[in-house]
Amino acid sequence: MGFELSLRLNYNHRVPEELASPINASTRICAVYGFPIKHSASPAMQNAAFAALGLNWRYIACEVAPENLRTAIEGAKATRLVGLNLTVPHKLLAVDFVDAFDESVKMWGAVNTIRIEGRDKNGTWLPIYQFTDVHPEKIRTHGFNTDAEAITRSLREDLNIEVAGSRVLLLGAGGAGRVAALKLAAENVGELFLVNRTHSKASAVAAEIRRRHLNVKIQVGYPRGEVDLCINATSMGLSPNDPLPVDNKQFSLRQAHAVYDMIYRPAETLFLQTAKAGGSRIANGLGMLLYQGAKALEIWSGQPAPIAIMRAALEKNIYGESTVQSPQSTVPKSNAVG
Ligand code: ATR
Repeated sequence: MGFELSLRLNYNHRVPEELASPINASTRICAVYGFPIKHSASPAMQNAAFAALGLNWRYIACEVAPENLRTAIEGAKATRLVGLNLTVPHKLLAVDFVDAFDESVKMWGAVNTIRIEGRDKNGTWLPIYQFTDVHPEKIRTHGFNTDAEAITRSLREDLNIEVAGSRVLLLGAGGAGRVAALKLAAENVGELFLVNRTHSKASAVAAEIRRRHLNVKIQVGYPRGEVDLCINATSMGLSPNDPLPVDNKQFSLRQAHAVYDMIYRPAETLFLQTAKAGGSRIANGLGMLLYQGAKALEIWSGQPAPIAIMRAALEKNIYGESTVQSPQSTVPKSNAVG
């Protein structure tokens, strides 16, 4: 998704020149493909990380129309890019265009990260950038999905929530909601309540979970009593005048100890403001964006991601110099599943 509706002139902050090594013939490239893509915060986050790790790499954003995705992936292979990220609308399409799958792609049915690899003379596949002097015998694209893991990592790091054994209310059964529900089930959530505007979609996700995770307790509808966590995975809140994604008459946010909104732009939706006023712990979806990117960087480079630097770069890019939100009228809006 990632609805990004308006322009802001100074939107894309640059990596300070003194931190990045100069571009030369050894500079290697990573890219994110999306449509649209111009408000992506990933270049700011990844270039800050490359500079911090001392890598002579750059990360760029490319607007790739869906009908050109296959060619664009083949182009990355031919030009030996280090790797790719894929965002809306390419994550499902790309499954058909990569040569090898990680388990995570089989699990989630979508690709958001590609590592480009070469085969050496012993038959071992290695990251393509390691072939500096010898030529690889063959080149392939290796697909991964880092989105689902990022959900549980963000819940843990940003809200101190361990999913296993928790009671959770999940709002939304679209693309993001489905992956979140399946991931929560895979992590042995104690009890999961699913609510969606279109009831049949919530029922379909519940049925899929019952098939795949026999022991997970799942219900469609609002819970009685308290929950450890309530998550918004709908698009309600991306626009300033959106109502709450939750029906106040059936569930009060005061019933939730912690509240998570996958939307990170604006930084505090009405949903999060209401939850905070009611005393719940809150976090927005910036952490999901951060951790999916951190894992992608680790897949490409084999090095631990500099999390604090990546988070600071994201906050600066999205919210400006401070973490205070910029005026609504000029800030594009996004959620973490774009
Ligand atoms: P994403 O990939 O971000 O999940 P999506 O698949 O289009 O995007 O899902 C959007 C989610 O927001 C869905 O849960 C959708 O509900 P429906 O399944 O009923 O469409 C929810 N949503 C969007 N607009 C909504 C609205 N006005 N009121 C309530 N829910 C809404």
